[in-house]
Amino acid sequence: MNVITVEHLFKAYGPVVAVDDISFQVEEGEIFGIVGPNGAGKTTTVECIEGLRFPDRGTVTVLGLDPRTEGDRLRQEIGVQLQEAALPDRIKVWEALDLYASFYPRTVAWAELLEQFSLAEKKEAYFARLSGGQKQRLFIALALLNDPRIVFLDELTTGLDPQARRAMWDLVRQVRDRGKTVVLITHFMEEAERLCDRVAVIDRGRIIALDTPRNLIRRLGGEVRAIFTVAEVAFTTPASMVMSTAPAIAAPSPAVVDRVRQALAGVPQVTKVESAEGEVVVHGQGTDFIVAVVTRLGAAGIYPQNLRTEQATLDDVFLALTGRKMRD
Ligand SMILES: Nc1ncnc2c1ncn2[C@@H]1O[C@H](COP(=O)(O)OP(=O)(O)O)[C@@H](O)[C@H]1O
Ligand SMILES: [Mg+2]
Repeated sequence: MNVITVEHLFKAYGPVVAVDDISFQVEEGEIFGIVGPNGAGKTTTVECIEGLRFPDRGTVTVLGLDPRTEGDRLRQEIGVQLQEAALPDRIKVWEALDLYASFYPRTVAWAELLEQFSLAEKKEAYFARLSGGQKQRLFIALALLNDPRIVFLDELTTGLDPQARRAMWDLVRQVRDRGKTVVLITHFMEEAERLCDRVAVIDRGRIIALDTPRNLIRRLGGEVRAIFTVAEVAFTTPASMVMSTAPAIAAPSPAVVDRVRQALAGVPQVTKVESAEGEVVVHGQGTDFIVAVVTRLGAAGIYPQNLRTEQATLDDVFLALTGRKMRD
């Protein structure tokens, strides 16, 4: 069952077209991701769905309601964590919950939310004293106060360290596991890939792809990369000496990359050889990709060091679709 239907949504701010003919549906119980670079139109899109902004054109239906005319009823059914959320510094955690609870005719007991979000011992703490992760946990708790059917989380983990971010991912999954639909807006591709059942990739106000993360990545043909450094001395020295001299590993010179490229020429599993951020990157596909690469390099006297492999990611999908990199 669809809980959100967006059809031909369009919104401009003066000459700036923020959302340019976007259509999609969100199914009940899924974590639906809206991902894309800063300025892509993500927040504008969801705030039109939440009834906080008004589209120029197009229709939005949320749980059978029109956010334009039935915003008050809609806000009883949805939970919103705004990208620009803020609370007064001197409000205490419990006071914030109590205040927000007063906005709704029906709420869950907020003491349980404090427990669930590990904020119980911070109950008396001032908002300003909370860590970034604690603030964000409080904002999710506030978004869940009215026991909403749909929860919108906009850039929930921006500004958090990797550990706090991962902890937040677990909380988002818990929210979904309680039967709620989650709309997750993020410019972190990894976050969308890990969390979302389906992802709409937005760029410049348009949806450029919409599918499960796995299907989006599969479209790239299941690309694999081998990434490694090469000790330059290995080219002129027998293997036995390379092992013992432990040469300094420098960024690959064009000559090194050329040498790798030559060694791998004609290997069917290999599609591209390049250097990136001080390492050699070999692109290709197939389950025997790594064996083929290492075998051929070894035969040419090239000994990859610090070798690791990477599978294609949503970042690659974005690059393949737009020709541009998504940067944090
Ligand atoms: N209130 C506003 N007034 C004018 N321009 C805006 C406003 N909100 C967003 N924009 C512009 O609309 C575009 C999309 O913004 P936004 O929806 O916030 O994107 P995102 O959330 O993907 O970063 C950007 O170019 C942004 O500068
Ligand atoms: Mg935004």
